[in-house]
Amino acid sequence: MKVLAFAASLRRASLNRRLVTLAAGIAKRQQAEVDLADFHAFDMPLYDGDLNDDEGLPEGALELKRRLDWADALLIATPEYNYSIAGTFKNAIDWTSRARPVPWRGKSVYLLSASPSPMGGIRGLWQTRIPLEGCGALVFPDMFALAFADKAFDEKGQLKDQMLAERLRKELTGFLRLADAVSHICGSETPSEERRRKAQITAALEEESEIQPAAG
Ligand SMILES: Cc1cc2nc3c(=O)[nH]c(=O)nc-3n(C[C@H](O)[C@H](O)[C@H](O)COP(=O)(O)O)c2cc1C
Repeated sequence: MKVLAFAASLRRASLNRRLVTLAAGIAKRQQAEVDLADFHAFDMPLYDGDLNDDEGLPEGALELKRRLDWADALLIATPEYNYSIAGTFKNAIDWTSRARPVPWRGKSVYLLSASPSPMGGIRGLWQTRIPLEGCGALVFPDMFALAFADKAFDEKGQLKDQMLAERLRKELTGFLRLADAVSHICGSETPSEERRRKAQITAALEEESEIQPAAG
């Protein structure tokens, strides 16, 4: 199974990057093929409808779309900003949501966050689910919020707290098993009959959706 992993933070010392790197390592050990991306690769301007009409998606959004198209599942670690979704990530979702077909549709997503605060960024994750689900992503019910993240890692990048480390491993294993099952219907390497069914589902969703009108 193909997994795209990234932290939605540009900061050099990002705690979320440390967390997603750890999660990506767990996924690799479970035989997933992992593309660990740097969010700098998805640099893009603020969403502007005129720019979209005149020039289409900017290069950073196209790069994210290409890598989403490749993936069956996503591991995304994102900071909580002011109790909510990080604006940088929301902007990336907004741009890519204008592509057709919407590249998030049918992708399994596991959300993580890391924060020095006692809440670990969980409030931001609840907000982050909303636009992703609006774009048709299948966001896993469990989410992993790492509190006191500035003190949580050892020098090898592992979690010092063994109970937390075990919870991450278990949740991620459950996510990867479900994502693998879903990928046989919605993934990039499905047999032609299932691809045809997926196209029918996608077309029906596009017709029904008020939020995601057809392009053009
Ligand atoms: C604009 C801004 C708003 C923030 N708001 C919150 C918040 O609401 N809750 C929280 O736990 N941390 C908040 N923080 C602290 C971040 O969790 C912390 O900077 C974290 O390390 C950012 O993630 P990163 O290390 O991956 O860049 C905020 C930080 C910034 C810059």
